[in-house]
Amino acid sequence: MLDWQQQQTFSISGMIITVISPGIIHVFQDRGYPSHSKAITTVPWEKTTVSVTRDKEVTELRTAKLVLKVDESGHVDVYDVTGNALAVDYRGKRAPQGLDEVDREHRKLIAGEGHSLGAQAPQEAAITVIKQLSPTAHFYGLGDKTGYLDKRGYAYDNWNVDFSAPQLEIQPNLYKSIPVMFSLDHGCPVGLFFDNPNRSHFDFGRENPAYYYYSADEGNLDYYLLGGATLKEVVANYTRLTGHTPLPQKWTLGYQQSRWGYSRSAAEVMAVADGLTKHKIPCDAIHLDIDYMDGYRDFTWNQRKYPEGPRAFVAAMKRKGYRLVTIIDAGVKKDERYSVYKEGKERHYFIRDHDGSPYVNTVWPGDAVFPDFGNPGVRRWWGQKQRFLTDLGVAGTWNDMNEPASFNGPLPLDLECTDEDTTVPQRQVHNVYGHNMSRATYEGIKDATGKRPFVITRAAYAGTQKYSTVWTGDNRSIWPHLQWAIPQLCNLGLSGFPFCGTDIGGFASDTTPELLVRWVEAALFSPLYRNHSELGTRHQEPWAFDDQTLRIYRQYVRLRYRFIPYLYDLFAYHQETGLPVMRPVILNYPDDERAANVNDEYMVGDDILVAPVVVKAQRRRLVYLPAGVWIDFWNNREYAGNQDIVVDAPLDCLPLFVRKNAIIPWGCVTMHVAAAPDKQMKFRVFGNDGATTHYQDNGCDFQYQKGEYNLYRVTVTAGQATVKLKHHGYRPCYQKITVETMMGIQRFRYAGQDQYVVVKEEAEDEE
Ligand code: GLC
Repeated sequence: MLDWQQQQTFSISGMIITVISPGIIHVFQDRGYPSHSKAITTVPWEKTTVSVTRDKEVTELRTAKLVLKVDESGHVDVYDVTGNALAVDYRGKRAPQGLDEVDREHRKLIAGEGHSLGAQAPQEAAITVIKQLSPTAHFYGLGDKTGYLDKRGYAYDNWNVDFSAPQLEIQPNLYKSIPVMFSLDHGCPVGLFFDNPNRSHFDFGRENPAYYYYSADEGNLDYYLLGGATLKEVVANYTRLTGHTPLPQKWTLGYQQSRWGYSRSAAEVMAVADGLTKHKIPCDAIHLDIDYMDGYRDFTWNQRKYPEGPRAFVAAMKRKGYRLVTIIDAGVKKDERYSVYKEGKERHYFIRDHDGSPYVNTVWPGDAVFPDFGNPGVRRWWGQKQRFLTDLGVAGTWNDMNEPASFNGPLPLDLECTDEDTTVPQRQVHNVYGHNMSRATYEGIKDATGKRPFVITRAAYAGTQKYSTVWTGDNRSIWPHLQWAIPQLCNLGLSGFPFCGTDIGGFASDTTPELLVRWVEAALFSPLYRNHSELGTRHQEPWAFDDQTLRIYRQYVRLRYRFIPYLYDLFAYHQETGLPVMRPVILNYPDDERAANVNDEYMVGDDILVAPVVVKAQRRRLVYLPAGVWIDFWNNREYAGNQDIVVDAPLDCLPLFVRKNAIIPWGCVTMHVAAAPDKQMKFRVFGNDGATTHYQDNGCDFQYQKGEYNLYRVTVTAGQATVKLKHHGYRPCYQKITVETMMGIQRFRYAGQDQYVVVKEEAEDEE
């Protein structure tokens, strides 16, 4: 630790309190557990002025963003610099309301009928952080927990599970554990990130409206207080700590088609590709679920079902324009003739049973063992295995069943696992299993290809966003799951995961034409735009129903391609700022009480507001427009903000609004995202005055980190546009740029030396 870092570290009331930057303060108490973080790879230290005052009982630490008061009993109270209470310790004890009336006998009766009492933490948890609950505070974060945007009044567990029953709005836990929460009270924001991967629990006033609390079964007391003037600043501090999602390859923002079952044979996958081509549905990738493998063995390919062999097959698909993404499961088949199993067993690379032998449970391949991903050697080994796929030309790895899932009961909690350099019981690394698998996969693909890895994972922990895209797992083709897709993806974005999506159309159960259409509309800006469904359910390819469904579906997938440059800009912006692509309205309007709990609208960056229809048979809907002036995307009608409006939303209409004077790069509709650099770009100005910065690079590797990218600045004043190349590091810049304002179209031509000149209509005609 450097001298100045030491000066920012304080030992108070048995805790080590470290001021990492003005808005990030770490509270730590060693309880004898490993203390290296899985979520944080680089601590974002900043030299910070901290003023310290001590009186008899209270020590006060003050930075430019946060004020901490710590008393002798270890209470930690957090304020902003103007004195607003952000998170003040509750002085009482937990007092569960309602539970006091349930004695053991009644508990048995309740359970007897099959009811449960919901998420509940033990009364005496090893770690408890308990705060006063303001009657006006809202709570966000926690990744993709089900239900609504504001978590107030609900309780959740952090324990990764494969949950296959229909998810409810009160589901305590699913596939991911992302223990970060943001509270917002009258516009005053604060974040708390509990970097403890053990089983933990959040209760936002469900147990008692007087307090909210976090508790963990074990681990160190290890949390971060995140401050900032706005919710955006607080979220940015969280992602500064746990890392940004590196720019994805551009094609990964295209449409993707999947279904469990396609990969049973080469012919079936070809038929899907041909369907997409025939019906003119733009698409960049087809996903191969478990059947492409040989007996569900990871890193194998069933030669019998793919008679030309996988290499020729992948190449043939590529010639048609489709990339392939293959699934890889956590469970490795126990089979003495299978090299991955044999190698792993010889090297002691699997999670161990009490007698030291590989622990066996059941997954798709039958008896299966589980790589010990907490071991850096196992991660390297697994990373190298990716070459089997990348050498064949596969474009991405979809990691599944990595909670880890097991069919023969859950993995015993005390199995022997590795946590970097220590042996620990399974329960202590359970929640980071998918995280470590994703990290191994990301690093392996990066080494093998030098390209930006495309990894998708179902299980995750805080910080997994550095390695992987996520999807929300096995949703269903039911309307509530379409409704929750909005808050789930918005909370994932706040929790540091900008690249996320749901199974469009719903995974389990049978979709309907109306549900499918509303889903592809609602998900228009979902960063991961993938239709996926379960074997045995009604087919949900865009052409599986009638002409109307196909027509509307095609219309929205084509529209998606128009917005890919805008989405790509937002990913470039995320990399700089940590802010999500798909956002809840409240993130952009933190002082607007109406925005605090909007569950059926979302924003894309700062400029686009989406109000999908997520209710069956609805053909008109109420839209809340926050402050400002909004333009209806479909007819340019202007609306003042701060009001509710009613709009028509026939089946083929996704209500969409653009902030007045926003400038949106407008991509071309192509069947696949082009590998060749775009020669031209159009900007649509939703008004006559505005400015935007637009990003361009080769869309595939890491050269941009060496400066090989372009930044264009487009400015429009009273309808007159100017275009500047602010940064010219990627040689093939646009040769033509068109700016379309509400007053007309202006054209520019690249004149060399980073200059764009106006082209007169006639001049362009001569070219
Ligand atoms: C899991 C996945 C699902 C996949 C299925 C078969 O249920 O969540 O997406 O299709 O396994 O591999």
